[in-house]
Amino acid sequence: MMFSEFLEFIKSNDGVPSSAPDMNPNPASEIIGAAIPRIDGPQKTTGRALYASDYNFPNMVYAAPVRATIASGKIRRIDSGAAEKMPGVLLVLHHDNVMPLYRNASGGRNSESRPPFEDDTVSYWGQYVAAVIAETFEQAQAAAAAVRVDYDTDKFNVATSLNDSLPDEGQPGGPRVMSHRGNTESAFASAPVKIDEIYTTPVETHNPMEMHATVAVWDGKKYTLYESSQGVMNHQNVLSQVLGEPKENVEVISRFIGSGFGGKLFPWPQSAIAAAAARKLNRPVKFTVNRKAMFSNVGHRPRTQQRLRLGATADGKLVSLQQDYRNHTSYGDDFRENCGEATPFLYSTANLKVTSALVRRNVGTPTPMRGPGAVPGLFALESAMDELAIKLKKDPVELRLSLDTLTDEEKNKPFSSRHLKECLQLGAEKFGWSRRTPEVGSMRKGDVILGWGVACASWGAGRGVSEAAVSLRSDGTARVSSGTQDIGTGTYTVMAQAVSDKTGIPIESIRVVLGDSSLPPGPTSGGSTATATILPSVIDAVNAAMRIVLNVAASAKNSPFAGKDVASLTMSGGRVHLKDQPPQSGVPFQEILRQANLASANGDGKSGGLGADPKARDFSMHSFGAQFVEVEWDPGIAKLRVSRVVSVIDGGRIINKRTATNQIAGAIVMGVGMGLFEQTIYDPRNGHPINDNFADYIVPTVADSPEIDVHFLDIPDPIMGEYGARGIGEIGLAGVAPAITAAVYHATGVRVRDLPVRIEDLLAAHIS
Ligand code: MOS
Repeated sequence: MMFSEFLEFIKSNDGVPSSAPDMNPNPASEIIGAAIPRIDGPQKTTGRALYASDYNFPNMVYAAPVRATIASGKIRRIDSGAAEKMPGVLLVLHHDNVMPLYRNASGGRNSESRPPFEDDTVSYWGQYVAAVIAETFEQAQAAAAAVRVDYDTDKFNVATSLNDSLPDEGQPGGPRVMSHRGNTESAFASAPVKIDEIYTTPVETHNPMEMHATVAVWDGKKYTLYESSQGVMNHQNVLSQVLGEPKENVEVISRFIGSGFGGKLFPWPQSAIAAAAARKLNRPVKFTVNRKAMFSNVGHRPRTQQRLRLGATADGKLVSLQQDYRNHTSYGDDFRENCGEATPFLYSTANLKVTSALVRRNVGTPTPMRGPGAVPGLFALESAMDELAIKLKKDPVELRLSLDTLTDEEKNKPFSSRHLKECLQLGAEKFGWSRRTPEVGSMRKGDVILGWGVACASWGAGRGVSEAAVSLRSDGTARVSSGTQDIGTGTYTVMAQAVSDKTGIPIESIRVVLGDSSLPPGPTSGGSTATATILPSVIDAVNAAMRIVLNVAASAKNSPFAGKDVASLTMSGGRVHLKDQPPQSGVPFQEILRQANLASANGDGKSGGLGADPKARDFSMHSFGAQFVEVEWDPGIAKLRVSRVVSVIDGGRIINKRTATNQIAGAIVMGVGMGLFEQTIYDPRNGHPINDNFADYIVPTVADSPEIDVHFLDIPDPIMGEYGARGIGEIGLAGVAPAITAAVYHATGVRVRDLPVRIEDLLAAHIS
């Protein structure tokens, strides 16, 4: 989903007035910004952390899907006779015997609008057409292979070229104007320097370490779903509609997640299938999605095709910017990859137009993947900018600096905090950019040719509504909870940091509870908005809990502060003390609680989204960054590798230096994958994603990983709320691929406009 759509999604209950305490960023503290190791690290490294498929229950049985072997058509007949007679088989579930599963229309978001087994239609290879449930995993798999499905096969289309003729403007899938100002056509026509090129990005498949899985338990009244979900609240909301149950009868648990990259934002069909089977059999059901099925049944980043037209004056003023893009979507759903996410505001230009269109293919429904829209969009825009710099004989850093703006020219509002210029300047310094010689192939290191490239990064900043609860306990510990989840980014840790920062209770005495939809509703981990969303509600809750402690201190008759005005008291360093005295003069909060015979002081917290925040109305909120890349090209053996990346990120205040650096470093490795390796290939004979495994779908290994140098400007955003943190989950990937292809051009003279860069592209240049 596009970022703007994501904002709508997180704002869907945005009526809560912003009650977040103090929206001015606080000064630095010892805890906020520190490089604190993940508090859940020991559980993960010792194997005590339970991921979805780690849950086992007495009497549990296993589901294995039967997946379509055609890409388009109708199911004529499902013959499950042989499978049903096989050992251990309990049920073959399909359209005719599945209990009603419904669509959802009352809020929340499902990945596919169509529930599993809704009818006899097949619109992509691998689609679930039935599921076998058996006593063991092996029995289920064997029986699934024995289910015979006859189809009436239709013509299908998995073509990579998206040059289809389009429906008219305004019709579904037809061209839609996403942003427009000035007169692009005439400005482009009269521009002395022009770039007009088409850029494509392939289908990419999310490949988190942990694959999707559901363990569904039905207790006769209520479902408990153990999931790998980036949004337990959304999952509960959607599955309650799909299963036709009130929300309180569906609990979703996701304590630990082996990442998601967007692929786990919304429920996929295995969840409803497992739940339906659990209810029918009255036994817990485990449904694990295997690596092959990850390529067809749980979303992907759609293919994009983008025409970029830039018009400039001879001295490098950008007079016209046009981006016309298409992305593929499925037959079931309209998924728009918002390739123009960053285009309207990244550079100053008076004339700009972005249009978007959808082209249907027989593939599963696409879903957001890290930096959806912006990441493929910036590949095109930043590649075109590099080409423009070359045409103008301008340094690509200089060109970008000269086009920087502190006003969002689309919205006509100032940015809340934009330091793209500083990102470019610091990055150039750390990278050693001034030593670059611009001629192709002019920089050598022994046998290899070095290429240096640069690109800018951007990603939106958002904050939604959130609730949290904090207990300050009489044993001196604290507990903080919220119905959010930690996809591996560090949410457990930053929540503990906020409580520690406000109370002075040491991190190791703070227990964080999340990943359960029965907790106070917290945010989806998506759009890089979770940290900015959750922390204000945690702080609201911790303030409420501390107020209770202070009230008790001032009122309990055996309290050392009995009779004092509560307004004269405060809590810091874990102690209650007079505001005009140091913390050491006071009393540990747990003693106040114990003296009053209280187990804990419990505070509930709530915070509002940017949409309801009057301060946010007048600003445009985005993160920025600059990526500097070095490639080594060895023409003798046709070997290309990314050797060095310097990434400078303007993501507002950084809450945890260690987890943040890890986010950006991981994104850069992913960017190497996007630049050089990743592409899902559909077999033109049958629509099967043929490279649906780790031998054929290449992701970077340690050996492919460059030397990585990450810097944060660490400038608090005055609008984003407590601490001034924006998000950093996605920005790190933006700009990496175009910086790589710019570096490849600098080394080889070959401009790659169709990702990924293939050795064949580079060989061809040397042959000719
Ligand atoms: Mo992100 S693509 O919203 O996980």
